[in-house]
Amino acid sequence: MTASIDLRADDVTLRYDQRIISERLGFRVPHGAFTVIIGPNACGKSTLLRALSGLLRPSSGSIVLDGRDIARLAPRAVATRIGLLPQSATAPDGITVAELVSRGRFVHQRLIRQWSPDDEAAVAKAMAETGVSDLSARRVDELSGGQRQRVWIAMVLAQQTPMILLDEPTTFLDVAHQVEVLNLLHRLNRAGRTVVAVLHDLNQAARYADHVVAMQDGAIVAEGAPGDTITSELVDEVFALPNRVIPDPETGQPLVIPRDTR
Ligand SMILES: Nc1ncnc2c1ncn2[C@@H]1O[C@H](COP(=O)(O)OP(=O)(O)O)[C@@H](O)[C@H]1O
Ligand SMILES: [Mg+2]
Repeated sequence: MTASIDLRADDVTLRYDQRIISERLGFRVPHGAFTVIIGPNACGKSTLLRALSGLLRPSSGSIVLDGRDIARLAPRAVATRIGLLPQSATAPDGITVAELVSRGRFVHQRLIRQWSPDDEAAVAKAMAETGVSDLSARRVDELSGGQRQRVWIAMVLAQQTPMILLDEPTTFLDVAHQVEVLNLLHRLNRAGRTVVAVLHDLNQAARYADHVVAMQDGAIVAEGAPGDTITSELVDEVFALPNRVIPDPETGQPLVIPRDTR
């Protein structure tokens, strides 16, 4: 799948009631890339993802999807282009894996829902891609954290959108399952999907991202290749963390080592 998609935030101000989170922010999602958004807690990463997916309306400026203001598009038109995995997705009690993944198809169905062979095929493909086919009849609430996260990703994949946005998809997973999820996202990206993920681990960001977006206080303070963005100065400035950056012995990308401040 290499369907092209162009998504950008054009001079947007994002706020909750009177509280401004981002002011006059501009950002274009690089097409076909694996983009990772980094930044300290509460800097506005989730808010930006919500805006990009059309869930949060900017109070000024616009989110532009394929040349059109997302606010003027039907939710279904947006949901067939952009899949979002929110930060704390919760599954309905007792729902099975197959049922949850099938929900990714709802956006493709008309008012009177008719389950089609296309829907069936999309669900089967998404479960195969994420390695959850064998779990199909299991209850989501009985799965391990890593399995559950793969099921959520399968749900987003079943939506078959050219772009997926994932908010902290590796949180609560042990390191092996983090790597498994990131490798999965990498494969999906290389197979043609544009991927944007919020990650907390800077070293994983450096390893997996083609494009890094660093945020601070609602603003994008650095953007570009990991080697150009994840620098000691930036980490010190944005995270207030004394650190050293050395080349990752596996990849040569930046590896951030906190200074020993005990
Ligand atoms: N629904 C909401 N209503 C009011 N304030 C919110 C809401 N969601 C987030 N915020 C506030 O907006 C700021 C940015 O939050 P968020 O985008 O979730 O940050 P991040 O994802 O970077 O941790 C925070 O101060 C947070 O408390
Ligand atoms: Mg967040």
